[in-house]
Amino acid sequence: MGNGSPPVVVELGNRSYCVHIGDGLLAQTGQIARENALSGRAAIVSDSRVAPLYLSAVQDSLAQAGYVFSAHVVPSGEQSKSLEMVKTLCEQFAHDGVDRHSFVVALGGGVIGDLAGFVAAIYYRGIPVIQLPTTLMAQVDSSVGGKTGVNLNAGKNLVGAFHQPHAVIADTLTLTSLSRRDFNEGVAEVIKYGAISDPKLLGELSQGITSIAQLVRQCVRIKAGFVTEDERETSGRRALLNFGHTIGHAIEAAAGYGTLLHGEAIALGMLAAAEISSKRVGFPAEEAARLRTMIQQYELPTRLPSGLDPQVVLRRVFVDKKFQDGNISFVVCSRLGNAFSTKEVTREDLAAAIVGLQTGKT
Ligand code: NAD
Ligand code: GLY
Repeated sequence: MGNGSPPVVVELGNRSYCVHIGDGLLAQTGQIARENALSGRAAIVSDSRVAPLYLSAVQDSLAQAGYVFSAHVVPSGEQSKSLEMVKTLCEQFAHDGVDRHSFVVALGGGVIGDLAGFVAAIYYRGIPVIQLPTTLMAQVDSSVGGKTGVNLNAGKNLVGAFHQPHAVIADTLTLTSLSRRDFNEGVAEVIKYGAISDPKLLGELSQGITSIAQLVRQCVRIKAGFVTEDERETSGRRALLNFGHTIGHAIEAAAGYGTLLHGEAIALGMLAAAEISSKRVGFPAEEAARLRTMIQQYELPTRLPSGLDPQVVLRRVFVDKKFQDGNISFVVCSRLGNAFSTKEVTREDLAAAIVGLQTGKT
């Protein structure tokens, strides 16, 4: 399935699933659902920008495969990743006859994937979900691996569940309708894979993206490897995917959800993590410069938004869930492609790196 290219398989025993990647795959949603033995009613969750573009293709495909479905459209944007929206969707599902035999189809970017995936994880104590990611961010990262959840005022993703999808269908044609800013924020996660696992990706990005399907495939393979090794982030392996996220999440929340796109905040978080890596584990200056050049090439920010107080960001870091007993487990790189977690990073290191994002020192 998928333009002749075999899917990438996320190997998780009896919860293994395929990530189908290629142009025009939304039209195969119904068929792929049937191949995964999903038989009940489908509840499609999408957002107000994605639904007008792609909902009908998904509905047609499900109808052709003989499914009955309902559609649930939430406002586009990070603000929809809330417990209030979880309740709204659950009430709509109950009203529309979605039951324990039904499945969820998450059509949209990472916000929809996380939100609808979480609803699928808890509705009737868990029903299947198929992820249909429509942003680069969601195709290379969030739709794969089963992390679902919503935000609290206190921080990002503080309420959630692991709930692996039955299938992921990444239709790369959907990426053509992304704004440049929305596309580029997804590149931040590609840069992350380059930093922690495969520096060749950075070389490819520097040449400009020639095959988007190929790029998505490379990233999904990397992510699938981490997820297979450490599905529930217990061994520390999967935690390496959080490179740039400790400070990035804090910046995103402190700026106010929706001010910076997720990937933009992660780009800033990676610059701070690179600075801390240089100080603590000797990350070479020329490799930090390479990371910065890539971030700039894809028009991602290198400075905190004006008016954002570094101290507010720092306070946010301390409600981050990666703290244990007052120590932070922080992902650093000693070389591009060689990431690991350390408990050696101090509050002062964090403060200096965040202030540096304001002053231009980081
Ligand atoms: P998003 O879902 O808000 O999408 C960005 C914008 O693009 C939205 O306005 C959306 O309506 C619009 N859009 C989506 N697809 C489109 C298309 N094909 N054409 C035109 N417009 C389109 O944001 P995102 O960047 O995709 O995802 C960010 C979210 O993902 C954050 O909440 C982040 O925490 C989460 N995330 C989760 C994981 C995970 O492992 N679960 C990993 C990374 C990020
Ligand atoms: N995006 C980080 C993870 O899936 O673990």
